[in-house]
Amino acid sequence: MPDIINIVNYLNSIWKPQEQQGGENRLPNIGYSAVIAGTGFDVPERVLTNEDLEKILDTSDEWITERTGMKERRIAAPTEAASDFACRAAQRALEEAGVPAEELDLIIVATVTGDMPFPSTACIVQDRLGARNAAAMDLGAGCSGFIYGLTTARQFIATGTYRTILVIGVEVLSKITDWTDRSTAVLLADGAGAVVLRADQNQGRGIIATYLAADGSHGNDLYMPAGGSRIPASIESVQQRLHYLKMNGSAIFKIAVRSMADVVKRLLDQARLRAEDIKLVIPHQANLRIIEAMAKLLNFPMERVFVNIQKYANTSSASTIIALDEARKSGRVRQNDLIIMVAFGAGLTWGGVLIRL
Ligand code: UT7
Repeated sequence: MPDIINIVNYLNSIWKPQEQQGGENRLPNIGYSAVIAGTGFDVPERVLTNEDLEKILDTSDEWITERTGMKERRIAAPTEAASDFACRAAQRALEEAGVPAEELDLIIVATVTGDMPFPSTACIVQDRLGARNAAAMDLGAGCSGFIYGLTTARQFIATGTYRTILVIGVEVLSKITDWTDRSTAVLLADGAGAVVLRADQNQGRGIIATYLAADGSHGNDLYMPAGGSRIPASIESVQQRLHYLKMNGSAIFKIAVRSMADVVKRLLDQARLRAEDIKLVIPHQANLRIIEAMAKLLNFPMERVFVNIQKYANTSSASTIIALDEARKSGRVRQNDLIIMVAFGAGLTWGGVLIRL
């Protein structure tokens, strides 16, 4: 009979528990690595500048630039929906990865502005790509959706359940924007980004640390009140403008800075790395001042923080993956570089991933 005590001793000797975080126990990663095989993004053709906004709202280029860092954003045409941008971003990512759509095992679409409540936008994308062997689901975690999606995909790959996963972040926020509310209308925009993750036995590359968090007690600081089962669509809900995004900007601002800095620290601790080891931090592009405050709190130089908010404004769950694609394709980061992607958003939710490209 095998000596059970020896087996337990052996398991204990290889078991290296990572530090407890926020009360949850983390298991060591023992399976495959989730490696980035391709990325892509797509944004609407229509450009809306700060000067354009000056014509429809009581705002100014000066205010928007100083308070947010935004100069222009992309806005979908009336006939365009989330799956249109998601499919184009996905096709670019698949092409770079050299992966035919039939090889996909799973499609995750992070969004709060899908084509319709159901079927999921992931199923619409699955059909349009011809990914007939893939399971498909949407994931709602506000602006952190893409980070939640990457983390979910990584688990399926690590356990050996799936080999090839497409994760998309897409939003068409212009369709839930109250264009009479200057405090939100200048911030929100549309776009999509996608990544193809593949299982790899080389443990050195891929997603090497993840962290997710949520605090539902702040849900009402960033939400869309109507259109669900609490307040279904009615003449009153439309008249009261309840189908638009509402935000308590200054409350979110403070939490965003603290939570994103915390995520970066936790990821570095988890991977036993130092800030100097990180080639680029790619934060959610909600406000340049939030990004700069996060970097300051971490004592991290802005030269190693990616910013493209001036071109695309806040595309919510699409922002970090659009940024990653731009960073990769412009040569800001290369294979084997260590990067951190970090985001926060409605929920409230926040989280990050540390990746060796
Ligand atoms: O993606 C995740 C979710 N979103 C965010 O992360 C956004 C987080 N919050 C923010 O980025 C900032 O709080 C905002 C950009 C939303 C606002 O910046 P702020 O510096 O916190 O401004 P504020 O809300 O404290 O407003 C300052 C002033 C107010 O006027 P009074 O009351 O001081 O006279 C606003 O009415 O700025 C006014 N204001 C504007 N003025 C010109 C608000 N929006 C505008 C505008 N143009 N678009």
